[in-house]
Amino acid sequence: MENDLDALLADLRSLIGAGHPILQAAAEHLFAAGGKRLRPGIVLLLARALDPCADLGPRQRRLAEITEMIHTASLVHDDVVDEAATRRGVDTVHSRFNHRVAVLAGDFLFAQASWHLANLDNLEAVKLLSRVIMDLADGEVKQGLYRYDTGQGFETYLEKSYCKTASLIANSARATGVLSGRSSAELDQLHHFGRQLGLAFQVVDDILDFTGSDQQLGKPAASDLASGYLTAPALYALEERPALAGLIEREFSQEGDLEQALDLVRGCEAIPRSRALAEQFARDAMQALEWLPAGEAARALRAMPDSVLSRLY
Ligand code: IPE
Ligand code: IPE
Ligand code: MG
Ligand code: MG
Repeated sequence: MENDLDALLADLRSLIGAGHPILQAAAEHLFAAGGKRLRPGIVLLLARALDPCADLGPRQRRLAEITEMIHTASLVHDDVVDEAATRRGVDTVHSRFNHRVAVLAGDFLFAQASWHLANLDNLEAVKLLSRVIMDLADGEVKQGLYRYDTGQGFETYLEKSYCKTASLIANSARATGVLSGRSSAELDQLHHFGRQLGLAFQVVDDILDFTGSDQQLGKPAASDLASGYLTAPALYALEERPALAGLIEREFSQEGDLEQALDLVRGCEAIPRSRALAEQFARDAMQALEWLPAGEAARALRAMPDSVLSRLY
């Protein structure tokens, strides 16, 4: 897919070229830094797997670009909310420019994505992807509401993760199927694939926050717990280490609290249990693709759940 994804980057940069120079520079800043381009990769591979004999159509390509625009917009805003200094190995937009520019640049990208989405002239795709933008805002608010809340259930964490991460992958996979004229049973499978892969991806990201380094991740590590975001490892650790709850509830206000909490999470079964959870989601994702006709693109898609897990090793 390398060539297709390179073409996508060039297209993205020219698509966003129509705005105010400051907004353009802010959006360019993150696109230029790269990123894994997982979401457009999935759309393009699925488009090929669903129509193995046809060339990639312009609408499928445009859908792939739209997914990366929505994703990048959500990152620009997420970094403002989290006060994060780095992303994709470079300064975040609000650090490089300022908060006003970052808020507007995120809006600008969401707006551009909506415009290009409407121009696909497919009402079903518009509904699916505009739902994603609603879910993203919903997920960010949910995450904020449950900060430092040790009473939250695992269900809350999974709902938040669906909204912030899995919804985009699930609904863009489904929209790819819509553009290929697939049956509703197949569309449900595509949605399920994206949902389970997205949840696996988020659990892996949440593990890496505890086990990775800033340099490895290109963004600040060990930051979720410090911000009061209780992800899978922290929720499992709360079951095993009752002392953790006190530290979280007093919001790490005493010297050494945060380090002690991080040690508690890293020193119990929380990380292995989170890994098992990610593996379960990845397995489900793979099974949801069993019906795809055999071919190179289908093979690459079926390898995707494993490659998401391989970030842990
Ligand atoms: C980051 O997504 C946000 C999460 C859903 C964890 P990616 O890890 O795909 O970010 P980029 O696009 O590669 O920078
Ligand atoms: C969700 O996950 C990312 C968005 C959809 C904005 P995180 O909040 O964990 O993303 P990172 O860790 O900041 O990349
Ligand atoms: Mg974040
Ligand atoms: Mg994260």
